[in-house]
Amino acid sequence: MDIRLLTNADLPLIQHANLENLPENYFLKYYLYHSLSWPQLSFVAVDASRPPKGPYDYPKIVGYVLAKMEEEPSDGVPHGHITSLSVMRTHRRLGIAEKLMRQSQLAMVETYQAKYVSLHVRVSNVAARHLYEDTLGFKNEKTEAKYYADGEDAYSMRLDLDEIRRQIEEGAEAEAEDDNENGEDTPDEGDAVGEVGRDPEAGKKETTKKDEAGRQIKVAVGRGLGVGDLVEKVESKQ
Ligand SMILES: CC(C)(COP(=O)(O)OP(=O)(O)OC[C@H]1O[C@@H](n2cnc3c(N)ncnc32)[C@H](O)[C@@H]1OP(=O)(O)O)[C@@H](O)C(=O)NCCC(=O)NCCS
Repeated sequence: MDIRLLTNADLPLIQHANLENLPENYFLKYYLYHSLSWPQLSFVAVDASRPPKGPYDYPKIVGYVLAKMEEEPSDGVPHGHITSLSVMRTHRRLGIAEKLMRQSQLAMVETYQAKYVSLHVRVSNVAARHLYEDTLGFKNEKTEAKYYADGEDAYSMRLDLDEIRRQIEEGAEAEAEDDNENGEDTPDEGDAVGEVGRDPEAGKKETTKKDEAGRQIKVAVGRGLGVGDLVEKVESKQ
């Protein structure tokens, strides 16, 4: 099973999976809005044992998470939101939803410095609540009465992403230490360009050519010349 970023080509398949698995459905343009606005946050699970048979075949997508950043957070705190998550019946209880969620949470922190992630879940959705509360550690913030179109209540949940941020920072520190130990503490900025720090005579070469009267004259060539010097000069007159 591959977990990879959602692409626009996947959108009809995601919409199909959503229609199969959930009563909350969206227009295709809403999926497109997610993938264009926050292309780092949504992921799909693809059955790698059944690759597309040709250019007109589709990958077999067995799960997805559609996520976004809250555009105008009422608390002013940058945070992500899970718009939709589902896994096909044939592929449930394999840890796919957990992986999709963790991948999206990581991207929210790495890309947008999200402080927390929020979502809504039906109070009767035992499987999803187990995933959110017990596996991932979401906390119920409040109950929103009759949130769903059929009148069911929703739990409004959130998960603090501090722990993920801490792990990212620790990883970055460990990597920096490794680099230092390997003597790679000086960042490689490449060769100096332009005239700064360069010996003006370095790389400057002389060669000869014939002038209009047929006499041999010296001309400068080579990398040591600035842009203004690129016009060939008769050096022997100076
Ligand atoms: C909810 C859903 C996404 C879970 O997907 P999944 O890939 O089967 O979940 P995972 O295999 O990653 O399981 C994560 C945890 O939830 C538990 N879980 C999954 N299905 C469960 C069920 N039916 N009952 C109880 N626990 C369940 C798993 O045992 C696992 O717990 P663990 O960490 O203690 O082992 C899936 O059931 C689904 O698509 N449901 C329909 C759509 C839906 O409800 N989406 C959520 C909308 S808010």
